[in-house]
Amino acid sequence: MKFFIDTADVREIREAHELGLVDGVTTNPSLIAKSGRRFEDVIKEIVSIVDGPISAEVVSLDCAGMLEEAKELVKIHQNIVVKVPMTPEGLKATNALTALGIKTNVTLIFTPMQALLAAKAGATYVSPFIGRLDDISQDGMGIIEDIRTIFDNYGYMSEIIVASVRNPIHVLNSALIGADIATIPYSVMIQLAKHPLTDAGIKKFLEDWENVPK
Ligand code: E4P
Repeated sequence: MKFFIDTADVREIREAHELGLVDGVTTNPSLIAKSGRRFEDVIKEIVSIVDGPISAEVVSLDCAGMLEEAKELVKIHQNIVVKVPMTPEGLKATNALTALGIKTNVTLIFTPMQALLAAKAGATYVSPFIGRLDDISQDGMGIIEDIRTIFDNYGYMSEIIVASVRNPIHVLNSALIGADIATIPYSVMIQLAKHPLTDAGIKKFLEDWENVPK
């Protein structure tokens, strides 16, 4: 299973990269705004840290505008994946970008059918947002199961990025279902590494070590 980190904070990306956990990075306009830096500067720094797919999102709402932005984005680095919203215009852009050999990540997916449409349009990646569904009392993980089944039924090659991940259980269930990727906030990556019995075990080993004759 691949882990992407879901952030535009380059300090977090460096930390997670040093842990050997980062296969790619996803950003979105809100994460870029949170970084307080210029979009291009952040993306250029991210591609210099991680050698893997880096999703950078367009903000145009029409296909022509999306294509224009996409062409500028892919000039930054060969690892750039153009993140496109799940709308009819976004599908049109995905179809056109795929024909040009440009990789896409169709974002803001909330139903299995939206994922199927994105795959049919040629999306390299589809990003279902499970946390935001959970937030409104819908079953986020359920749509991951359905998308996995649909893609396997018909042999779609689009990779499923589980997005809007809020906790370690989301990652566990994504792995059990067989999602290709989870894009994970840095704080959740650290939570995944931790267990109170690990900490207690280290403490006890160090205490006992004091009793070893020196
Ligand atoms: C994924 O590509 C998105 O950037 C992200 O997972 C959204 O997460 P949020 O719902 O926590 O904002």
